[in-house]
Amino acid sequence: MNTNYQLYQKHLKKISDIGFAAAVLQWDQETYMPPKGAALRAQQLATLSGLVHEHFTDEKLGKLLDELIKDTSLSDKEFKNVMHTHKDYYKQKKYSTGFVEEISRTVSETFQAWHQAKINNDFKSYAPFLDKLLTLKKKECELLGYENHPYDAMLDQYEPGAKSAHLKILFNDVKANLVEFVKQIAQKPQNADAFMFAEYDEQKQWDFSLYLLKQMGYDFEAGRQDKSSHPFTTHFNAHDVRVTTRVNKNDLNEIIWSTIHEGGHALYEQGLPITEYGLPSGEYISLGIHESQSRLWENNIGRSLAYWEYNFPKLQELFPQNLGDKTALDFYKAMNIVKPSFIRTNADELTYHFHILIRFEIEMALFEEKLAVNELPELWNAKYKEYLGIDVPNDTKGVLQDVHWSHGSFGYFPTYSLGSFYAAQFMHTATQQISNLEEKIKAGNLMPLLEWLRINIHQYGKQYLADELCQKISGEKLNFNYFMTYAKEKYSFLYNL
Ligand code: CO
Repeated sequence: MNTNYQLYQKHLKKISDIGFAAAVLQWDQETYMPPKGAALRAQQLATLSGLVHEHFTDEKLGKLLDELIKDTSLSDKEFKNVMHTHKDYYKQKKYSTGFVEEISRTVSETFQAWHQAKINNDFKSYAPFLDKLLTLKKKECELLGYENHPYDAMLDQYEPGAKSAHLKILFNDVKANLVEFVKQIAQKPQNADAFMFAEYDEQKQWDFSLYLLKQMGYDFEAGRQDKSSHPFTTHFNAHDVRVTTRVNKNDLNEIIWSTIHEGGHALYEQGLPITEYGLPSGEYISLGIHESQSRLWENNIGRSLAYWEYNFPKLQELFPQNLGDKTALDFYKAMNIVKPSFIRTNADELTYHFHILIRFEIEMALFEEKLAVNELPELWNAKYKEYLGIDVPNDTKGVLQDVHWSHGSFGYFPTYSLGSFYAAQFMHTATQQISNLEEKIKAGNLMPLLEWLRINIHQYGKQYLADELCQKISGEKLNFNYFMTYAKEKYSFLYNL
């Protein structure tokens, strides 16, 4: 093998070793670390992330990449790896140490200000911090460069290759189709879900969540599930992928769908090729594709009738007092309630996308200089009225609800919706290519679907951009119609439309 390529591999694996060691510390911080460990833990994490940055911006790596990118003896996969790292290397090099420090300091201050403002329902105290951070992020766009729109530079960090022009079309489709459809649903009688909020034994809920993960094909020899206040998935390599979930004694929804959601993320990570550890070909493509995997399992499978025809009797056995007189269909209706609400993270599968649409429109306006930070709450509330038909009671339940902007994470929100839309399109193709998929799901056999995802998505790592992968799988680029068709079919049945 090419010696330069070997050196490149070695260098990248070393960076990953350090980065994943930090990830273990982070996982521990969210799960088992005793409170007094916090102070030094922050320092340990900062040291490790400093080391990662040092190794990644090492001039030696730059020289190696400059030579490799011209090297015609590389295989296609090797060349793509080099291309990704070359791009990331020169991106990192654009940041001066002073700018990195300024951003990181401003993020800490803005996060603190947001935290207090949310508690006190006081947007005004937070606005100057957010304004300063936004100005820095706009500077960052200029620093990184873009072809058509500054926001594209933000998007590219989470969804490489995504363009705001394309997202505008996508979210116009959401507006044109989904808003009207949800209005039709709102006119129908609501389905019953009170039994979801009865008392459910926590240990039994936990045991059931492990059963669900096992059934999905989550490998417990290469991962584990723990509890945390915010469910998440983390990986240290494809053979150590961990999930967390949360249990609520009075809400059965929480553990079931957060377990399936994180399980979907984890199956993607466990399916990445271990032999490509540390290289782009061993990493996920984008946040949108990652989210497509969690949402495909959570919504397209985990909120389907076929899935519960098999699993509901098992749940009934565990909770005969609460579920003894219910059917799989009752349960299916209860888990798919559509109802406009203020909080994004509690939203149902359909109105969720209005929350993202609103954030996307606001972010675009901010980056196009059409909106000032102090006008945010007013516009936020107006849009919630327009798209969801609800009056936001206060900023804590409105514009202050999410942490993202206080972290400077502009361009992140759209990836959540992209995940659902990719999931619908992938599911459409999977249903065509796997014979009798629905019958298999009804029989509790999810392995053909996992196998399909492994072959079509997981095994490639980052060898394709999201758009290229979508084209390769389904024969076309991302198309909102797949989601809309799925939504119409499912919810017309659920709400008798
Ligand atoms: Co997710």
